[in-house]
Order: sequence, then C-alpha cells, then structure tokens
Amino acid sequence: MVSNASETMAIRKILTFPDPFLKEEADDVQNIDGRIVQAMDDMAQTMYAAPGVGLAAPQIGLRERIVVVDVGEEDENGERGKELVQIINPVIVEDEGEIVWEEGCLSVIDFRAEVKRANHIWVKGYDRDQKEVSLEAEGLLAVALQHEIDHLDGTLFLDHLSRLKRDMYTRRVKKALREGRPIARDEDDDEDS
Ligand code: NI
Repeated sequence: MVSNASETMAIRKILTFPDPFLKEEADDVQNIDGRIVQAMDDMAQTMYAAPGVGLAAPQIGLRERIVVVDVGEEDENGERGKELVQIINPVIVEDEGEIVWEEGCLSVIDFRAEVKRANHIWVKGYDRDQKEVSLEAEGLLAVALQHEIDHLDGTLFLDHLSRLKRDMYTRRVKKALREGRPIARDEDDDEDS
C-alpha cells in the first residue's frame, strides 16, 4: 500500500452499474474536515486494492465532489502511490485536443470501450489542506480525470457510447442479475485484462 497509509484507512465497497446512486449528481464539499480527509484516504486505498487508476466519491456511496487518480506504474516493489492525485471540488477550466482511449470503470464490471475525450485539460480544485490547486494533465491522466469528474455528475463512460453499445451491456447485466449469477465476460472484449 502507499507508504504514508494511516492505519485507519479502509477499503470501501464499490457500487456497480445499474445502482441508481451512480446516476446522481454529487454536491460541492463545503467544509474540508476530518471526515472528508478520511473519505479521500479510503478512496485511494480502495482504488489501489481494486486495482484501478481512479475513483470518485459516488462510487463508494458518498455524495461529495472528490476524485482520486493514479495513472503511475508500479515501482520495483510492486507498489503504487507516487502519482496519487486527490482533488476536492474539481472543475475543468479549459480543455483542448482529442484523444480516444479504451476505458473501463470499477463500477462497470467486465466491459471496456473506446471513448473520445479532450487530450489536454486544466483542472482547479482544493487539496486536503484547503489550499486551492491547479493541475495540467495530458493523455491518460487527462482521460482518467475527465472520467472521474464525470462520475460527480452522475455520468458513466457508458453514457458516452452509442445507444446500441450501451443497451447491449445493460441487457447483459440485467440478464445476469435476473439469473442470479456474476456478470459474464463479454466474448467480444478480448482487450480486457
Ligand atoms: Ni469509473
């Protein structure tokens, strides 16, 4: 785990599609208190444990605008955490360019698809010390931040796909839930790993 992990951090349960909570809009954090800092730490730990490259507060059932992202590689000890970005009330203030990336989501089990987003973004928000932060991101980091900030508005990457693709995945999930079995791997989805 990350080197500065506190002993009180906890892995939280990740909500998955079609949980209606994932469609709700989160609220701005008004007061960065101990509860918010705890939530950020738990989100980071939950993301690393999954493992994933990003997580937004609504994915663990919190209605607050907080995202965590780490697109860094593992170090020689198999650990991540050196490129952890945690932002409260993130806002994309400028974007440019285009990038197509095959995205997945910890809340969308066994499915990946290409999504077109801005390749270069500038984000503002706050850190855990209530300081205003600005961040410039390109490529995968930009993709991950846009994906997580989308979650704060109740938007999943599925919502960026064609109706046909989204409906196919929705049918697959609902069939599995109806039959009381885990969501089956998509046979056409050989890129998933
Ligand atoms: Ni996601």
